[in-house]
Amino acid sequence: MTIKTKGFVFDLDGVLVDTAKYHYLAWKKFAEEFNYDFTEEENEEFKGVSRKRCLEILLNKVGVEANQDQIDQWLIQKNEDYLSYISEMNPSEVLPGVKDFLDSLKSKGIPMAVGSASKNAVPILEKVELLSYFTDIIDGNKVSKAKPDPEVFVLAAKALHVKAEDTIVFEDAIAGIQAANAAGMLSIGVGDQNVLCEADYNIENFNDITNEFLTELIG
Ligand code: BG6
Ligand code: MG
Repeated sequence: MTIKTKGFVFDLDGVLVDTAKYHYLAWKKFAEEFNYDFTEEENEEFKGVSRKRCLEILLNKVGVEANQDQIDQWLIQKNEDYLSYISEMNPSEVLPGVKDFLDSLKSKGIPMAVGSASKNAVPILEKVELLSYFTDIIDGNKVSKAKPDPEVFVLAAKALHVKAEDTIVFEDAIAGIQAANAAGMLSIGVGDQNVLCEADYNIENFNDITNEFLTELIG
């Protein structure tokens, strides 16, 4: 069934919550074990990308080859470091303007979903008390193809019963903007406009969304 409304889909890390920095810190720590200085600029390429793919890219950078057992071990280690950084997470790490924006969409009856590469999405949303806003969470446990493949957003739109052209995606990753564009959805880049130049619109954070802009988005 397809109903005539807009659907809003949110990436998690770096859009709803301030976790992108913790992913960066965990990879930086990992790279240090190989005496490699992993920079924030390099980290842009890791945003929106699955844990497994991030490790492959990093191993390529440090020039290390490893067998599957070792790779599996490193993936566990990176996640344990990441989880230790976010263990104390609470609603204060919800990014600026997010809560008000979600409340405003909720009051208008607009369906919302999360579309994230993370396998930690549900526990994080629980910790920051945002889980109840979303009709569905399409995360790293449900997709087989990573962004920039559009799969995650296609599944999210399906869960919301909205067509691609009626779906609005918020993303902080280049790969995520490309995924939304490839799906034929409206893409809104959250963060650095220079980095997210392929987005249909750009905002620095959700406080930038005026009532006029929201009305234009809802149509
Ligand atoms: C994305 C992040 O949301 O999730 C990436 O932007 C991260 O940096 C990916 O690698 C996978 O996350 P997790 O929590 O499953 O390791
Ligand atoms: Mg992100």
